[in-house]
Amino acid sequence: MGRALALAGERGPAVAPNPWVGCVVLGPEGQVVGEGATEPPGGRHAEVVALEAAGAAARGGTLVVTLEPCSHHGRTPPCVDAVLAAGVRRVVVGLEDPDPRVQGRGLAALAAGGVEVRSGLRAEAVEEQLAPYLTHRRTGRPYVVLKLAASLDGRIAAPDRSSKWLTGPEARADVHRLRAASQAVLVGAGTVRADDPELTVRLPGHAEDRQPLRVVLGAVPPGARVEPAEQVGGDLVTVLEDLGRRGVLQLLVEGGAAVAHAFHAAGLVDRYVFYYAPALFGGADALPMFAGPGAQSMGALWRGRIVGVARLGDDLKVELVPARPGRPGGKVA
Ligand SMILES: NC(=O)c1ccc[n+]([C@@H]2O[C@H](COP(=O)([O-])OP(=O)(O)OC[C@H]3O[C@@H](n4cnc5c(N)ncnc54)[C@H](OP(=O)(O)O)[C@@H]3O)[C@@H](O)[C@H]2O)c1
Repeated sequence: MGRALALAGERGPAVAPNPWVGCVVLGPEGQVVGEGATEPPGGRHAEVVALEAAGAAARGGTLVVTLEPCSHHGRTPPCVDAVLAAGVRRVVVGLEDPDPRVQGRGLAALAAGGVEVRSGLRAEAVEEQLAPYLTHRRTGRPYVVLKLAASLDGRIAAPDRSSKWLTGPEARADVHRLRAASQAVLVGAGTVRADDPELTVRLPGHAEDRQPLRVVLGAVPPGARVEPAEQVGGDLVTVLEDLGRRGVLQLLVEGGAAVAHAFHAAGLVDRYVFYYAPALFGGADALPMFAGPGAQSMGALWRGRIVGVARLGDDLKVELVPARPGRPGGKVA
């Protein structure tokens, strides 16, 4: 399963809106005879890639796959049929697929075909790796990642709103990788007015035509570099549901402070990615990370769990997830 996770991780969200799945086929003696990862939409699923690599050597063997094999006709035939046809004796799955068209039907079909089935191996690791896909299939909404770059005293812009990077090139390159893993990027109109960002992925070797959808909350001023971004407004849940229907598995919210507050206060952020520069504004007049009323007492304090800390050049990257997912994180302004 570790190898299957690694194969899925190498391909990653480039295959969205399909799940990034990895698969390893072992022969009857336990030796690896085939492996594969899901291909971009319209291409083969991981199980089929691995079974084709294995050929006749799969007969009587074990197929290990991060996500339950599909049992329905999508753009490709059901993987379950390919697994049964290959004569595999045992299937080991990381996680059941919450897609309403699967939800255990793949495992049931395999069992009915005489295959020994085991599910739940390294389930937590698969949950972590496939979080955007799983959130999308379970809720219909994208997995929301809030990214902010701040001084160590938690400020994201100078009082005069002068537009200049807080963090160094390594942190900024990391933001581009986050964008590349997202199918949509969102900022507030205030950020468009202040910074006129492009919101594109600019990484060496990144295909020009694989850019995330750019979304602005509020009105885009004429001549802005994000034109023609989508302009949205109103209820954030409705905005998220609409993006979900359009196949956005992960939405990267890039600020500013009013928008960060709106998502956080509503309990809509699944993961926080903060880049801290070794700098201090040293005053209460610089823009805080969240513009709006926050927790009014210690009892109301929002708490999270740190899931990643890294040094990027001179900066610090801290990733956290809510201790209680969906809990509002401040007062809705
Ligand atoms: N360091 C960082 O990581 C970072 C990242 C982004 C921005 N920034 C800085 O943050 C500043 C901009 O932040 P900001 O707080 O002034 O503006 P903002 O959060 O970027 O945008 C606020 C605007 O979004 C629109 N909006 C629509 N629906 C909304 C909703 N439900 N909740 C909140 N806003 C909604 C409104 O635009 P309308 O008024 O048009 O209705 C509102 O004025 C800039 O100085 C920028 O440089 C820093």
